[in-house]
Amino acid sequence: MAGRAVPSQETVRSALALACRAPSVHNSQPWRWKVAEHSVHLYLDSSRLLPVLDPTGREMVISCGAALNHARIAFAAEGWKLRVHRLPNPAQPDHLASIEFTRLDEVDEHVVTLAAAAATRRSDRRPVPARSGPGRGPRALARGRAAGGLHAHVRLGRQDTPGVGTGD
Ligand SMILES: Cc1cc2nc3c(=O)[nH]c(=O)nc-3n(C[C@H](O)[C@H](O)[C@H](O)COP(=O)(O)O)c2cc1C
Repeated sequence: MAGRAVPSQETVRSALALACRAPSVHNSQPWRWKVAEHSVHLYLDSSRLLPVLDPTGREMVISCGAALNHARIAFAAEGWKLRVHRLPNPAQPDHLASIEFTRLDEVDEHVVTLAAAAATRRSDRRPVPARSGPGRGPRALARGRAAGGLHAHVRLGRQDTPGVGTGD
């Protein structure tokens, strides 16, 4: 459609590269992106199903949700707001989302910080120590929930930690 605002090819490429840094179940990265003239489409890549671990594919869809959220952050950091249509075609359940764009009036600094974090994030499979220095460990994680709108509930050993990290 003439006159419709769309990000440049370069912006789309770099934003989707960042989206692909999202965590996924066993790093299976079960997503595919299709770029159309005025929209971007997210598909589930069923060939990446882990039949034993994830027989229903639920974790694959959650992984694609993580990628979609990363895309939202990546585009926002470039000044674009996403209009997401979930499951736009009921006949094609693997077509998880179609995305259109509108221009943001201004870029939120917090989003730029999140995009930078997405670029460098990685998993750390070491056990989280119960006792750790200030600003580290599960209690710090729970405290940090407020900043990102997270809901964290910390369990240390067999006991819950009262007053720490239970959501709102
Ligand atoms: C739906 C889902 C389930 C996950 N389950 C686990 C898990 O049970 N244990 C774990 O250590 N990591 C889990 N992860 C994290 C992924 O294994 C990890 O993100 C992936 O190996 C990619 O590594 P990266 O985060 O360093 O990119 C999960 C991630 C997603 C999205």
